[in-house]
Amino acid sequence: MAFFQKRAPLPKADLQHLPRHIAIIMDGNGRWAKKRGLPRTAGHAAGAETFRAIATYCKEIGLEYLTVYAFSTENWKRPAEEVSAIMGLLKKYLLEAIGQMEHDRVKMNFFGDLSVLSPELRQLCQRTQEISTHYDGCQVNICLNYGGRDELLRAAMAYARDCVEGRADPNHLTQDQFGTYLYSKGVPDPDLVIRPSGELRLSNFLLWQSAYAEFYFTDVLWPDFSKEELHRAIAAYQRRSRRFGGV
Ligand code: FPP
Repeated sequence: MAFFQKRAPLPKADLQHLPRHIAIIMDGNGRWAKKRGLPRTAGHAAGAETFRAIATYCKEIGLEYLTVYAFSTENWKRPAEEVSAIMGLLKKYLLEAIGQMEHDRVKMNFFGDLSVLSPELRQLCQRTQEISTHYDGCQVNICLNYGGRDELLRAAMAYARDCVEGRADPNHLTQDQFGTYLYSKGVPDPDLVIRPSGELRLSNFLLWQSAYAEFYFTDVLWPDFSKEELHRAIAAYQRRSRRFGGV
């Protein structure tokens, strides 16, 4: 598995020079549960705990942006029981987040089409977003009913509407302007994309935004992902030379 980073010794991440934006595909919950003879939903519950711990740690070390892939536009294909368990975990997390927002000052944001969620979950998403609008802590973006291709199609349609209605010029569109039609409007592109669980693909995550992201793959399953693993990912990132197509 030459693609994976070596485990030991623990590399020292320089926390004074963090990437601005880390994005994570929280993968491996199902396999984590299966290895323990547990239902997949138990894996998601453990994954939600890991998310809490990692998000808290990111806030503590002063990361500016954390984006996590919680539920994709394709995840609706999963058994109803599993979908409902994931939605339940999100609800639980958001209720808790609302309770401690004044203290945490984490800015919550959502990427994805929330219109198909239950009214209750949708309202919770809106509330957490509204309450935290002016917070200056880490911004946590939860990708919920999110797909990169879906995001690009929606952006293209919104731009086409603006052209038809005279608000945009069809002959002039810059990358920055197009970015304003995306869910990630105003958020810098991810510097580092982490995918645990041994899978080596992007799975429709932040397709536009990841154009120049650095990738870190590890075979650790998401529920087992730790601060130490995050340090390894950051240290690997810090050893990279980012040229953005230059020399
Ligand atoms: C991928 O692992 C994980 C998901 C599709 C769901 C992620 C959801 C959570 C971590 C819980 C809720 C989130 C928050 C933000 C509170 P998988 O099920 O595909 O794992 P597998 O590949 O091993 O089957």
